[in-house]
Amino acid sequence: MADHVFLRACRRQPTPFTPIWLMRQAGRYMAEYRAVRERFGFLELCHHPAAAAEVTVTAVERLGVDAAIIFADILLVLEPLGAGLAFAAGDGPRLHRPVRTPDDLARLQSYDPADALAYVGESIRQARAGLAGRVPLIGFAGAPFTLASYLIEGGGSRQYLHTKSFMYHHPQAWHRLLGLLARLVNGYLRMQVAAGADALQLFDSWVGCLSPDDYREYALAHSRAALDGLSALVPVIHFGTDTGGLLPLLREAGGDVIGVDWRSDLDTAWAVIGHDRAVQGNLDPLTLFAPPAEIRRRAKAILDRAAGRPGHIFNLGHGILPQTPVDNVRALVDAVHELSA
Ligand code: CP3
Repeated sequence: MADHVFLRACRRQPTPFTPIWLMRQAGRYMAEYRAVRERFGFLELCHHPAAAAEVTVTAVERLGVDAAIIFADILLVLEPLGAGLAFAAGDGPRLHRPVRTPDDLARLQSYDPADALAYVGESIRQARAGLAGRVPLIGFAGAPFTLASYLIEGGGSRQYLHTKSFMYHHPQAWHRLLGLLARLVNGYLRMQVAAGADALQLFDSWVGCLSPDDYREYALAHSRAALDGLSALVPVIHFGTDTGGLLPLLREAGGDVIGVDWRSDLDTAWAVIGHDRAVQGNLDPLTLFAPPAEIRRRAKAILDRAAGRPGHIFNLGHGILPQTPVDNVRALVDAVHELSA
């Protein structure tokens, strides 16, 4: 497995073609996934290792991608804290007991992720058995900033008004909260490696709302703590969106591979990150709504910018949308394999 094309690319070793996997590759755009979801609620599915493993493996088989990602969610870490996590149909995630004041922190129940989230480890064991060595399995977690934004807002957000207000009014409580999340995430990711994850991805999906100065002051040290010691175990991918102005800081916080979204040119972003790191990206997910010939043309444009330099993992700049035609996703995977070979 150590010699698999995806893991080689993470380590910037030469590969016979560019590996590709897609964020949210197991999801509602796929009929097989929707069929499983008729039997399970979303959280129920996350808590059911056999079904989560099945969904993970099916996506790989259907798409022909070069890595699997374990079916779970970044918000599972918030559930044992007692924040009241729920997913209402068509309504995205909700935290029914958000943290809005320093006093609210006292209500959060600290816990041992190796116990409380052991079910994700079991999903990893079963998915790995189902994959039977065909492709590596990626484990993942949310970064402290992005997790805190859900915990404080009580759900998704456009402006991060409550999050930033909390940050500016209660810096000490903010750092206590992110310190707690960083410890939980680090323990959770270590448990995933022990269960068999071949690589890890840290999702800091919403960190691009911060200025570079605010990232340095309020987020960087906590992302670094969340990633502490992990690169010595397996390759680590550090991902965010809207991070054009933060890429050197993400690198500073850690990761062997830095995720790049479509708002930057891949070659320019790679030069800013430094060629002593690998990069992952960076097709606009909406490209998958274009005709296959156009998808192929745009995939080639990204491969041209990577210019055959070892250390490029092809991916979207963010997750696949539920309305995406599966055949277009397959066309992309084939195009990347053919054009890079
Ligand atoms: O990539 C994969 O195939 C693995 C599974 C995965 C899911 N969520 C499954 C999921 C991963 C890696 C995630 C990460 C995740 N979850 C992130 C970071 C990635 C990103 O997109 O930035 C975030 C921000 C979340 C939180 C979350 N979970 C949101 C905002 C939503 C609602 C999104 C929506 O489109 O409704 C979810 C739900 C969710 N997580 C779904 C899936 C397949 C859809 C739920 C369903 O089946 O109804």
